[in-house]
Amino acid sequence: MDWRKIYKEKLVSAEDAIKNIHDGDTVVTSFGCAEPIGIERVMTENYKNFKDVEITNMLLIGETPWIKNEYKGHFRYHSFFASASSRAAISDGTADFTTCFFYEIPSVLRSVVKPRVSIVSVCPPDENGYVSLGTNVDYIESTLEYCEVKIAQVNKYIPRTHGKAIKHISDFDYFVEIDEPLPEVPSVRISDVEKAIGKYCASLINDGDCIQLGIGGIPNAICEELKDKKDIGLHSEMVGDGVVDLIKNGIINNSKKQTHTGKSVIGFAFGTKKLFDFMNDNPLIEMHPIEYINYPPVIAENDNMVSINSCLQIDLQGQVVSDTIGDKQFSGVGGQVDFVRGSTMSRGGKSVIAMPSTAKGGTVSRIVASITPNSAVTTSRNDVNYVVTEYGIARLKGQTMKNRARALIKIAHPDFREELCEIFEKRFGEKAFCEEGITQ
Ligand code: COA
Repeated sequence: MDWRKIYKEKLVSAEDAIKNIHDGDTVVTSFGCAEPIGIERVMTENYKNFKDVEITNMLLIGETPWIKNEYKGHFRYHSFFASASSRAAISDGTADFTTCFFYEIPSVLRSVVKPRVSIVSVCPPDENGYVSLGTNVDYIESTLEYCEVKIAQVNKYIPRTHGKAIKHISDFDYFVEIDEPLPEVPSVRISDVEKAIGKYCASLINDGDCIQLGIGGIPNAICEELKDKKDIGLHSEMVGDGVVDLIKNGIINNSKKQTHTGKSVIGFAFGTKKLFDFMNDNPLIEMHPIEYINYPPVIAENDNMVSINSCLQIDLQGQVVSDTIGDKQFSGVGGQVDFVRGSTMSRGGKSVIAMPSTAKGGTVSRIVASITPNSAVTTSRNDVNYVVTEYGIARLKGQTMKNRARALIKIAHPDFREELCEIFEKRFGEKAFCEEGITQ
């Protein structure tokens, strides 16, 4: 049958599509820039028609419809990564949070969470009946294999990305046409501290290396410092606007990669229209599911893999806290540990944790003697390797406990070094540094 006829049969209003969601259902949705906000809006407008429906996705940006008080008993939100939109609700128990490695999320969804309905965003079909999942393939692609009901918001603003993003209209049960600009994640202005961190990180990246960039303020600062590099590869669960000029200018050309040579491989995009437009019909970018991209042995297939992620706190043993502040869930593990491990396994690879030396306007040190009680360790002291602040680079792998503490104190903010040295002395019964001081 002509695909156009099938498409027409599956094309319904949002009101009709959501009638397929039953009381007690779990619904998984695309997240971030691909959140199907048109269908979600109609769901919340009709919230009284739903009872005990769990909505699960990675994280929310912008307005969060699911956690308003009036939706209690109708919708309950379940996240894998806290954000500004969901942090308070997770903290007070209104919303749920699950922690696991990002590469595991597809299997956790399939075998534990078991959503019955999947709602995704796609671009309009091409002349052969193929749509694209656009900015997000991550965990959502596999939900089309096992969910009983598959609903797609067809949105002309979704970029037609390649790789595993391409799906045929036969992969869906219902289409709802709603065009609206995608939620955006704008880049923030790069501070002097981030610039200094970017320079140190860039000094750890050699021509021909393959990189992964994490989430937060630092990745764009690193991109700015890569302008003089050559033959950089990209294998990253996510990218922001920062990579666009690097790919356009041929700095990222993926020519030295062992896998997907010539292609930038990513799981989801987290940026603005600049990035979406660049990804549209761009054969240089391949989208792949997160169970593939973030699987450490797959990451390690590329030589000289350099992963760069950020954290909130690190103690003098090198235990890295990236997603909690005390017992408060601040973000999530995301792919940090997947990439720390994958890059460590890669021949010539290195993992980097990069962070400003202080937080809260310089009032607290991120390098601490002991992590805040009830915080969770994200990257263990055995996994950590390079740590970067605006004061330099500490290499922890293979170092004695004394020497890794010394290396960290050296890159702590000067206002906190004395205090850290006193704790070192008490802990180890010797001075942290000789008389020449800690800048030796
Ligand atoms: N104690 C108290 N507050 C702290 C803190 C600490 N040790 N460290 C940071 N904060 C505060 C900051 O001051 C800031 O608040 P403010 O804006 O009011 O000043 C806020 O927490 C966010 O810190 P910041 O470092 O600016 O966050 P970021 O947006 O750069 O993101 C992470 C950094 C670590 C939260 C983020 O990279 C993350 O979630 N990482 C884990 C997941 C991951 O790495 N995934 C891999 C790729 S997705």
